[in-house]
Amino acid sequence: MATFTERMALVSVLWLALCLSGSWAVDKSNFKTCDQSSFCKRQRALKPGESPYRVLLETMELTNTRLTLQLINDNNKVRLLLELYRLQGNITRVKINELKPLKPRYEVPDVLVREPPTEPLSVLSQDENGVVLSLGAESQRVIISARPFRLDIMEGHDVLMSLNSRGLLAFEHLRMRKDTFSYKVTSTVASVWDNIKRVFSSQAEPEAENKEGADSANQAEAGKEEEEKVEEGMWEETFKSHSDSKPNGPCAISLDFSLPGVEHVYGIPEHAEPLKLKTTDNGDPYRLYNLDVFQYELYNPMALYGAVPVMLAHNTKRTTGIFWLNAAETWVDISSNTAGKTVFGKMLDYVQGSSETPQTDVRWISESGIIDVFLMLGPTPKDVFSQYASLTGTQAFPPLSSLAYHQCRWNYNDQEDVRSVDAGFDEHDIPYDFIWLDIEHTDGKRYFTWDPHKFATPKEMLQGLQEKKRKMVAIVDPHIKVDNNYKIHNEIRSRGFYIKNKDGGDYEGWCWPGSAGYPDFTRADMRAWWASMFAYDQYEGTMENLYTWNDMNEPSVFNGPEVTMHKDAVHGSWEHRDVHNLYGLYVQMATAEGLIQRSGGVERPFVLTRAFFAGSQRYGAVWTGDNAAEWDHLKISIPMCLSLGLVGISFCGADVGGFFKSPSSELLVRWYQTGAYQPFFRAHAHLDTPRREPWLFGPENAALIREAVRQRYTFLPYWYQLFYQAYRTGEPVMRPLWVEYPQDPATFAVDDEFLIGRDLLVHPVTDEGSRGVTAYLPGKDEFWFDIHTFHKHNGAQNLYIPVTMSSIPVFQRGGSIIPRKLRVRRSSTCMEHDPYTLFVALNARRTAEGELYIDDGHTFNYEKKEFIHRRFSFANNVLSSVNLMPDAHFTTMSWIERVIVLGATKPSKITLKTADGEESQLEFEFDPSMSVLTIRKPGMNAGEDWNITFK
Ligand code: NOJ
Repeated sequence: MATFTERMALVSVLWLALCLSGSWAVDKSNFKTCDQSSFCKRQRALKPGESPYRVLLETMELTNTRLTLQLINDNNKVRLLLELYRLQGNITRVKINELKPLKPRYEVPDVLVREPPTEPLSVLSQDENGVVLSLGAESQRVIISARPFRLDIMEGHDVLMSLNSRGLLAFEHLRMRKDTFSYKVTSTVASVWDNIKRVFSSQAEPEAENKEGADSANQAEAGKEEEEKVEEGMWEETFKSHSDSKPNGPCAISLDFSLPGVEHVYGIPEHAEPLKLKTTDNGDPYRLYNLDVFQYELYNPMALYGAVPVMLAHNTKRTTGIFWLNAAETWVDISSNTAGKTVFGKMLDYVQGSSETPQTDVRWISESGIIDVFLMLGPTPKDVFSQYASLTGTQAFPPLSSLAYHQCRWNYNDQEDVRSVDAGFDEHDIPYDFIWLDIEHTDGKRYFTWDPHKFATPKEMLQGLQEKKRKMVAIVDPHIKVDNNYKIHNEIRSRGFYIKNKDGGDYEGWCWPGSAGYPDFTRADMRAWWASMFAYDQYEGTMENLYTWNDMNEPSVFNGPEVTMHKDAVHGSWEHRDVHNLYGLYVQMATAEGLIQRSGGVERPFVLTRAFFAGSQRYGAVWTGDNAAEWDHLKISIPMCLSLGLVGISFCGADVGGFFKSPSSELLVRWYQTGAYQPFFRAHAHLDTPRREPWLFGPENAALIREAVRQRYTFLPYWYQLFYQAYRTGEPVMRPLWVEYPQDPATFAVDDEFLIGRDLLVHPVTDEGSRGVTAYLPGKDEFWFDIHTFHKHNGAQNLYIPVTMSSIPVFQRGGSIIPRKLRVRRSSTCMEHDPYTLFVALNARRTAEGELYIDDGHTFNYEKKEFIHRRFSFANNVLSSVNLMPDAHFTTMSWIERVIVLGATKPSKITLKTADGEESQLEFEFDPSMSVLTIRKPGMNAGEDWNITFK
């Protein structure tokens, strides 16, 4: 038998061999298909149109804001309790649980920011077929039909959404295992069974409703008959060499939703898939189950590292959303009656008058828990973002520097390596803000420690970076080396904080350090303890410019089923099965809290996570995991981050250059050019790849990369303002075109270009050897100005843009004002007090608007209104700056050093009027060939009122 070290060595050799072999393919046999996941298979086998569920109308209870009804399953007589709430902001919540479960079923905690405030509900009409409710002010109604149960949400004559219209509601009630009952009848089991009989009889239909006249106990027996059809996988399940003991038996839930009029659905990340979700009729459903997928495949609904169970549906009239609050393994099926029809086919239908309304049907299946679903009814995309934000919170407002460029690789080997890479950036005049340390910096993969030889004086290293106004991120993973000489392990073990295995011992799995325990982050006391470990006196060698990266937090268990934790591992009274998709969120939550606490609550944290769930946006940034240096991986980074933005997670990026394999210089340059316009901008590379700091690819490529990174730095004021907006409103920073042009179907499936905020349109070059790209410029009344040439283009057209290696096609929307800082220095912090250039791009009405947000860039003092928030507007030939938040206070040394007006006409004079009433004439230049007007050194303070009149 090989020793543990030998096995780990083998794992590393295999890993290395795979990485170097160049053959890129996920080993699909390591991951379940729906057919191999017994609950998915059982649920998917149900046929539409055979719903056994009926509403017991006489059980209806309505308080002012809560409606409850019982549903009965006519096959097994088990009753469910349906609760319906109207929530503030045009959201309807539907919860379905067993009326009397044998034991409580898991309800996801800590994801909703509060108990959502409700609004009154009232009954409009009711008869033996069902009940109609009014949903408050929006002229919406809910129609609940009794036989079979069905729920429709209507507005006027339109059905917005229907639940169980295909009859696929399924609820596997908790039950006793039959062989436990029949073969092991001890007095305890017998008395348990007595209790169960009582539960069943109270769930059974009342006698009056019972056509056969059997008494309620018989009903329970009838129910029991039904249960005895034990199918394979219900009470235990094996996958490869792993077995899942399933002590609670089958407990899956499922519900279908119909979306009339909808042909486009989005969201449910994380999948390496296009933005517009595909139908799943001919393959597996989209899977949501946080997994460490080695060499993940593109264009495939397999699960990846994170899961956000939120889907958006969109058509020209309305956007809606479905938030399925369940943290267990989940599968989502999508079908559509127009899938596969060509535009011609659809037109033919229309001409022939035979067109049926397009409709998308979706079906959610989860392994355990309850049905708790939030129907976000829009009607606009931005309404859905604010509805979802009201439930799960908004993007954490990050430190400004974290929006700049990050330099990472697995690994920077020692302090000297860090020093020389840092110096390399200065030598090659490329700005960067953060340098990262991966797992090798620790003492034998013991997180919160430093390798005593390679990183002997970490504080000196951090101090060196601090002097250059730069920062560092070090990795802290949630698997803890089982080692009696390791303080963190001893503390977690002695406090009983480890997740337990099914037999009650501490759960152990393999990960980077070898045998590892997994702290139970679902426990608030564990999280508080973890957070306290980031204190400067606990985590030795750290100081305020060190931030944190949480990796492997799906959690990754190298020798576990599907490379993750056994589902029958135990978190207090819950199984891992119930909480799986939440684990990564909790790790990041506790870590972010640790960074906040170590500064006494003053400093904003920065924490990057690989695994995530709904609500993770509140704790930091995410990245798309282990991609590869391939063109398709560069392309997919766009829809992957767009999908995350749609469900609240704005701070997203992909490893620039590709993690596995080695990029060609062309791919690397194109990746920098793309990453420079994505929210989280970090280069990263696998341990076994050749070094790829930007200057290693020759001076020409270094210059191209320098230029891309510098462009990022010039736009930092815009990024920062957009992140402030995301934090305030939940609006994504990186947006699909359809979010801003919701009535233009030509935008609905675009995912090779994107918007940053409303005003920048980016069409990165993502093809090898590209000579040009075709960008769709949306908006029939819009102008789009090329940010490099200032050429003006009309909207609502496909524009062919010839490209060279230096091209990054980016356009500023006419009608916008974007503040930039053009004096790029070695880090964003070095640019803090630098002046702004305002880019004013005029629209056809010769107006423009924009915002500027300034604060200290790193503390929570913005919560105390210590910031500047201004609106710039150009109208009637006057450009002005007004205070958007008069009761906020902050001063800045930054001033306006240049105003560039695109699409301008030549004025005869330009007059500046400052807050104190003083007027002065400004010098300007006008380029008639490009219609560009430049005012140099107008000199106003960026935080004050002023206006400039063009005569
Ligand atoms: C897996 C992560 O996805 C990758 O980014 C990291 O470099 C390795 N783990 C080592 O920590």
